Amino acid sequence: MGDRRPILFFDSGVGGLSVLAPTRALLPRAPIVYVADNAFFPYGLKSEAEIAGRVPALLGRLAAHYRPRLIVNACNTACTIALATMRAVLDLPVVGTVPAIRPAAQVSRTRVIGVLGTDATVRQPYVDRLSADYAADCVVLRHGSARLVELAEAHLRGEATPDDAYREVLAGLLGQPGGTSLDTIVLACTHFPLVADRLAAVAPRPLAFVDGGAGIARRVAHLTEGQSWPDAPPPGIAVFTGPFDPTPAFRGSLARFGLDAFEQF
Ligand code: DGL
Repeated sequence: MGDRRPILFFDSGVGGLSVLAPTRALLPRAPIVYVADNAFFPYGLKSEAEIAGRVPALLGRLAAHYRPRLIVNACNTACTIALATMRAVLDLPVVGTVPAIRPAAQVSRTRVIGVLGTDATVRQPYVDRLSADYAADCVVLRHGSARLVELAEAHLRGEATPDDAYREVLAGLLGQPGGTSLDTIVLACTHFPLVADRLAAVAPRPLAFVDGGAGIARRVAHLTEGQSWPDAPPPGIAVFTGPFDPTPAFRGSLARFGLDAFEQF
């Protein structure tokens, strides 16, 4: 039979799919529960107190209901604010998602990197610490974009999104003092890798885009090493905390990530 406990992925919306994809590639037999806290979306425009007051408690209730073997919090905003609290209140492993500043500093040649996240993420002391610890010899520019989160959501719903909108988001980083030398962008919101190709297509010069998805997948594989999995995993479940409108295009997008069942929590 194998161990049927799922891995529970969590985000405010569809962003965590960019972490789910590389994890499924490494662990194809893992049962998946993917939770989108769309009732409280978008996280990036909320206060620290609102995020800290909601997410650990919600994860506790989700853990009690779905009994996962491990939780992947695939939301930079929640993790840069409340990762320590989540780990303290949950008695199972919690893998967090924080801006991939370290790998970005490893690849940047110009030593000017950009952190593109939500408004809430880019103002966190957690980002100051990552920059000081891993990119001390780099100029680290930051830009928060709620617009890019919306664009990624729309893209997954199958809606057309204009090139100019992506251009404007990039200009928020490249237009800052020092931005002309920037060569590497940290996609510090899990929504953004879902539209990385759109950003790359409108970039005025080749830029490296870096995110933490592959590293998180390896971490999950490491933490579950030696555990058993069902021979045939059940369909992945997409769980929404608020109303959702599963248009055929949106269902199709979720199905591409192995999510074929829907639930409201
Ligand atoms: N995907 C989330 C992140 O990684 C947050 C997006 C939002 O709700 O603003 O930060």
